[in-house]
Amino acid sequence: MPSNPLKRYQHGEGSYALVTGATLGMGEEWAHQLAALGFNLIIHGRSQAKLDAVRAAILAKHATVDVKTAIADAGALPPNLGELEALLPALSQITVLINNIGVTSKAFPLFEEAPTEDLLQQIAINDVFPTILTQRVLPTLKRNQPSLIVNVTSMGAWAPSPYLSAYSGSKAYNLIFSRSLYNEMRCEGNQVDVTTLVPGQVVSGMNEGPPTANMPTSHDFIRTTISKLSGGLFGVRPPPIMVPWMAHSMGYLAMQLMPRAMADWAVRSTVVDLRKKKLAAEQREKPSEDQVVPTMTANSSAGATANGVHEDGKATMTN
Ligand SMILES: NC(=O)c1ccc[n+]([C@@H]2O[C@H](COP(=O)([O-])OP(=O)(O)OC[C@H]3O[C@@H](n4cnc5c(N)ncnc54)[C@H](OP(=O)(O)O)[C@@H]3O)[C@@H](O)[C@H]2O)c1
Repeated sequence: MPSNPLKRYQHGEGSYALVTGATLGMGEEWAHQLAALGFNLIIHGRSQAKLDAVRAAILAKHATVDVKTAIADAGALPPNLGELEALLPALSQITVLINNIGVTSKAFPLFEEAPTEDLLQQIAINDVFPTILTQRVLPTLKRNQPSLIVNVTSMGAWAPSPYLSAYSGSKAYNLIFSRSLYNEMRCEGNQVDVTTLVPGQVVSGMNEGPPTANMPTSHDFIRTTISKLSGGLFGVRPPPIMVPWMAHSMGYLAMQLMPRAMADWAVRSTVVDLRKKKLAAEQREKPSEDQVVPTMTANSSAGATANGVHEDGKATMTN
């Protein structure tokens, strides 16, 4: 592996990488590992305290890079870019955009029982926010060629998961959006490289550990991803789709080769099994009836309903 696989996107010492959802999991890892390669950073999140903590941890190890923070609620409807709106016009040196942010539902609710708000949040955060952000940053990336956009999808884009229709659908959007943009950049003959990153399960805020061969840590997954970004099989530009983790690529390949009906059967049995385990764990954690203190009053009924949604585990957002 080249000592710096992203050298192609570093023009002098002033290049910036913008990472969304950078306060946890893979986004936080992108930020640390890009800083280690010498990129200045704009890290995005929704909590100033968390962004400050990530910024301090990066600067403790890489004192020479500049780390700017930007708060934006990626689930805001109508959508807006929050603090990025003011920051972006002043930053002409962005060469890398990592559209990392994504949320799912922690539970596996029946579609009709998932709160509509949660479904809309998944579409807003996973699809609407990266779409408007990419549109805003693209002129800068075109000026700074060669430059890079990484869009994060999921195996769920090929393995449409029962009980996670909005998430799987939103990740299918990431895939087609990203590949379309890849093709547009090629049609226009410019060197804004666009790649679609396909993680299987990775330990993160979304997915609790422990790590296994099939479920790497975010650190290992991003390290491997970066090492493979310096070029696909035939050149120096990254491939349009990357499945960098070996164990994930086996599943991905099987998914491409299997007849559709068999792939659907495989995903149904996997997710049904996961859901059973999840519901059984929730049942075990629920306080028995004689431990529950009856508190329902006229004034508290709204709160009790809201709590009920969470305690039933029907649609608690991961993030
Ligand atoms: N982990 C997996 O197994 C897996 C598998 C396939 C695909 N993926 C994809 O990989 C990407 C990264 O996932 P991850 O597992 O690393 O995620 P994660 O650990 O759950 O981190 C999510 C990040 O998004 C931020 N965020 C959530 N809602 C937000 C909002 N409304 N506004 C602004 N920021 C918000 C979180 O901020 P807070 O720190 O404030 O919560 C956090 O920084 C996603 O696109 C996901 O779909 C993950």
